[in-house]
Amino acid sequence: MKLTIALLAGDGIGPEVIAQAVKVCDAVADKFNHEIIWKPALTGAAAIDAVGDPYPDETHEICLNADAVLFGAIGHPKYDNDPSAKVRPEQGLLKMRKKLGLFANIRPTFTFPSLIDNSPLKRERIEGTDLVFLRELTGGIYFGEKGRKDGGETAYDTCTYTREEVIRLAKKGFELAMTRTKKLCCVDKANVLETSRLWRETVQAMEKDYPEVTVSYEFVDAVAMRLVQWPNSYDVLITENLFGDILTDEASVISGSMGLMPSASVGEENALYEPIHGSYPQAAGKDIANPLATILSAAMMFEDTFKLKEEAEAIRNVVNKSLEHGIVTEDLSGKNKAYKTSEVGNWLVENL
Ligand code: IPM
Ligand code: MG
Repeated sequence: MKLTIALLAGDGIGPEVIAQAVKVCDAVADKFNHEIIWKPALTGAAAIDAVGDPYPDETHEICLNADAVLFGAIGHPKYDNDPSAKVRPEQGLLKMRKKLGLFANIRPTFTFPSLIDNSPLKRERIEGTDLVFLRELTGGIYFGEKGRKDGGETAYDTCTYTREEVIRLAKKGFELAMTRTKKLCCVDKANVLETSRLWRETVQAMEKDYPEVTVSYEFVDAVAMRLVQWPNSYDVLITENLFGDILTDEASVISGSMGLMPSASVGEENALYEPIHGSYPQAAGKDIANPLATILSAAMMFEDTFKLKEEAEAIRNVVNKSLEHGIVTEDLSGKNKAYKTSEVGNWLVENL
């Protein structure tokens, strides 16, 4: 197969982890007789520096014309401490999600048997955890009307959802639940928020179309607690944009490192794969960041977009093998030897 992949390395550790994912994808392509055409494009702070726009039109064209997008990370400290910055790298990510119509962000959380003791949570609580968040990605408070008034003394961000937006996300949730243990949790704050009441009422109305799925409705604050207490009790969780942002960072603790968790952002036409971690500027250029979340995101890309399951499995297997052999970066090495980002990438390529 010929696969055209837009490659958006972005900022911070983005280029380093993306470089390892490219090596691994090329090795898989070699092994299974595929041809990958990489289309690199600018995004984030790197794009602001180069052309003054964190998601330039040229990058958008490249993404639109590719079969999938592989994305590193976005963000730069020089903007984090400057609330008055007019252009911010993160705007590029949001613009990209919106313009590509990536309304569903799929974030699995699972444990690796060889890493159970890396998690700060007790083994008996997290063993066997295998859950998936479906986070709504192009609506809610991220995209609602925002601004300042009263001469700048008052600020507001509005959370808006339409029934249609809830339906298309929930539909993906029900469908995913059908392929798993048929358990769906709708996470909201319906005791307080009107948008949450719309979510709940919409999902309730959809239940009849999926009679086999057991749906629970839980408040986001309670889920935040139960997620680290009994992660095993969840399977598929659907939620709005901001709740999903927060809960998926929390959930990554279960696996032992944020550097392990992949994600896919999908819409009707396009799909983008990215690690859930950020640009980790403190580690940029040091060759120490964990490349596995990006590599596992590439595995999701092979399976979900290209329908190449064997290729995806090959990546996951070699990643598991590297973990079992302790070929890991410093976030996971503990007292043992820490391997460099590029060494982990090389090991995976050699062992594929
Ligand atoms: C994420 C990130 C982004 C978000 C930031 C970088 C804008 O935290 O993908 O979870 O909030 O969506
Ligand atoms: Mg986040």
